[in-house]
Amino acid sequence: MSNVDFNSTDFPEQFIAQTKKALKSNNDVAAHFSKCRDIMLSLVEGINNRKANNQSVIPEVSYRAIKHNEITPEDIAQIRQRGCVIVRNVFERQQAEDWNSELGEYLDSNQYYNKAKEKAGLDNYFGDLKDARPQIFGVYWSRPQVMARQAESMADTKRFLNNLWDTDAPAGPEFNPDIELTYADRTRRRAPGDTTLGLSPHMDAGSYERWVDPAYQQIYKSIYAGQFDQYDPWRAAYRTQTREYDSPAVSSMFRTFQGWTALTEQGPNDGTLQLLPIANAIGYVLLRSLQDDIPDNELCLAKPGRALGVSQEWHPDIYEAITTIQTVAPGDTVWWHPDVIHAVGSEHNGDDFASVIYIGASPACAKNEAYAQKQAAHFIAGKSAPDFAAEDYEVDFKGRATVDDLTELGKRQMSIS
Ligand SMILES: [Fe+2]
Repeated sequence: MSNVDFNSTDFPEQFIAQTKKALKSNNDVAAHFSKCRDIMLSLVEGINNRKANNQSVIPEVSYRAIKHNEITPEDIAQIRQRGCVIVRNVFERQQAEDWNSELGEYLDSNQYYNKAKEKAGLDNYFGDLKDARPQIFGVYWSRPQVMARQAESMADTKRFLNNLWDTDAPAGPEFNPDIELTYADRTRRRAPGDTTLGLSPHMDAGSYERWVDPAYQQIYKSIYAGQFDQYDPWRAAYRTQTREYDSPAVSSMFRTFQGWTALTEQGPNDGTLQLLPIANAIGYVLLRSLQDDIPDNELCLAKPGRALGVSQEWHPDIYEAITTIQTVAPGDTVWWHPDVIHAVGSEHNGDDFASVIYIGASPACAKNEAYAQKQAAHFIAGKSAPDFAAEDYEVDFKGRATVDDLTELGKRQMSIS
């Protein structure tokens, strides 16, 4: 099952059918799905109960607690079960607000909007999701983005997050949790009153791949076998060896957590992030597509090179647990496991811009090192990061960060010596 060409533009649907047939003949997928569904229903009930009592369901810790080694085993257990966490005050509020203004000026003074109109249509990664394209800006190298990525407090936070994983693997540690490589991503600035720009629930890091890729099959082996107590979402083995279908905006780096840093205050009313706070809900998604009501060559909403969608129609038992994050302040950060289903609210009913810089955690490993080296050349030239649509807005932007803006830590993280 390893001969599929992930980089072909013509992904063979036949291959889906073969993979499904093999998985279904080796496993009692109906019984396993039923068992998994029961587990999910009980977790969803727990989430609903907390919500009914006005308790938050997204765990949170302070950067201060990370810095001073004051994170409790209960905190860690919560984060591991929920697959997500808010880390407060990684940056001072004033610092984040200054960055927000500076980023706005960077986009305005370089006439981003005019240039974006000319280049529209280059990025259709989210094209088939229900809501329209979000208000995300294809800039990677503004000074605020580079400063936030290379900050010491960010490095401490990522070290803590990476160490939540068990890196043991057959061929030696899957990654080095203590050394981070930068994954340059974009920025979101969502206008108040916006009602069109959202993202339907989805997960990144692979769609078809989660079923057909040999490394993913190893990762999810115990799910297919119905051994849910054996499945540990935090076991890193094989995670850096998955191959993703080549497409704009599918991450070539392995990320222990996706994440962003808030530059403005934003909460449930502001068209911001929604999370399904169950780290192992992937079991439900995988097994759902193997049930008899799904055609042989389909996997519910999976499409090659697109985010993997999750819907009320196909995933009703878990869908209702999707929860908007509690209000975050400028300088707070939000993090979620690569298997965690997430969305961006379709309506922004607040009064101010909801702005974030996307910064995930991508520890050192061969896969990430290879990408970091490609990315460094794009940084120096001011091009879009290699994973994203080659819009290259910043090539002639004034005020773009350069190698001179990198600290020693920043250089190491960018694989620039
Ligand atoms: Fe996403």
